[in-house]
Amino acid sequence: MAGSGGFVPPPYPYERLDALKRLADSLPGGVVDCSIGTPVDPVPEVARQAALDALDRANGYPPSAGSAALRDAAAGWMNRTFGLTIDAGDVGACVGTKEFVAALPHVLRLRNPERDTVLYPAVAYPTYEMGGVLAGCRAIPVPLDAAWHPDLDAVSDGDAERALLLWVNEPGNPTSSTADDAFYARVTAWARARGITVASDECYVEYAPDRSTILSSGSEGVLAVHSVSKRSNLAGMRVGFYAGDPDLVSYLVETRKHAGLMAPSPVQAAAAAALADDAHVDVQRARYADRRAFLIDALAAHGLVHDGGAATFYLWLRGRDSADDGWEIAAGLAHRAGLLVSPGDLYGVAGADHVRVALVQPRERLELAMSRLNEGASWTTSGSR
Ligand SMILES: Cc1ncc(COP(=O)(O)O)c(C=O)c1O
Repeated sequence: MAGSGGFVPPPYPYERLDALKRLADSLPGGVVDCSIGTPVDPVPEVARQAALDALDRANGYPPSAGSAALRDAAAGWMNRTFGLTIDAGDVGACVGTKEFVAALPHVLRLRNPERDTVLYPAVAYPTYEMGGVLAGCRAIPVPLDAAWHPDLDAVSDGDAERALLLWVNEPGNPTSSTADDAFYARVTAWARARGITVASDECYVEYAPDRSTILSSGSEGVLAVHSVSKRSNLAGMRVGFYAGDPDLVSYLVETRKHAGLMAPSPVQAAAAAALADDAHVDVQRARYADRRAFLIDALAAHGLVHDGGAATFYLWLRGRDSADDGWEIAAGLAHRAGLLVSPGDLYGVAGADHVRVALVQPRERLELAMSRLNEGASWTTSGSR
């Protein structure tokens, strides 16, 4: 039994959608599930073949740091994508980046017990906050500005002095905000002046119109965190990587080795092959762009406006005229369109008047949802619960 005041896991965010999912699924043709950002498009052939080829070599333990092939491929992808010259030795593998996001504050705090605070964007992927909580840290949201970027001027001096880690996430989940090199220059200057490590979660970078990384501002005190889950439709494989400050990467590689964190070797082989190939990403980018264009127009006709950024994996929608509640919008879409979306408060109270749509359904499923909506009464969220 938990002691008084001990940690009690909160409900998992997406499990709060179960009732809406049943409602949406009761429509003929079933639910069109755009809630969780889990890819539905095919595993790239290069990755599939590499995993199969590596199965016969899965008798031994894989390197926790990542195989030489994976670290080379990760550095090679970053160097050709962002015009960098990072070394494969300054890259470490993780067992999917969610694992890394959740674990990072704990190991950083062991290294620097003087600091106890994790800063994260106020509307964000929930695991930034949870990683702080799991480390016994204070998790403090940073308010966002009009571009959905963290407003670092709003961080109090007291919180900055105690901050161990600042998370940034561009392109942003859930807002699809995007960032350029100038944004990262500002963030790193602010954090370096205060001795705060910055971890930049860049897992959607392939779906930004202009790709940029925090490592464009140098690697001192900085990590870029990347996943092949979205880039290469490999979310079921569980593999990603981090790269940046050589001392920090080396500390993390050594610590994580002791913790037994190892991506399986066929998975590492698949990720290495995927990172060496850009052609499948071009195909995937076109799929998301097409879905985005279709759905923005179709939902705008029903009074729902995308008011996030230009990245193509998520839509971030609010009602046109009113201060609607995200749960009401989500209930209306589930009821009338069989479309399951995520109410914005899953990502922070500051997002409570929005919903997030993950563009992870084929075009024909999105068309089905929109045809249901078009056949029904014109969109209004009142009375939709
Ligand atoms: C912002 C962000 N970071 C990290 C992840 C985790 O990705 P994975 O653990 O599959 O690498 C996700 C998944 O949705 C995400 O949205």
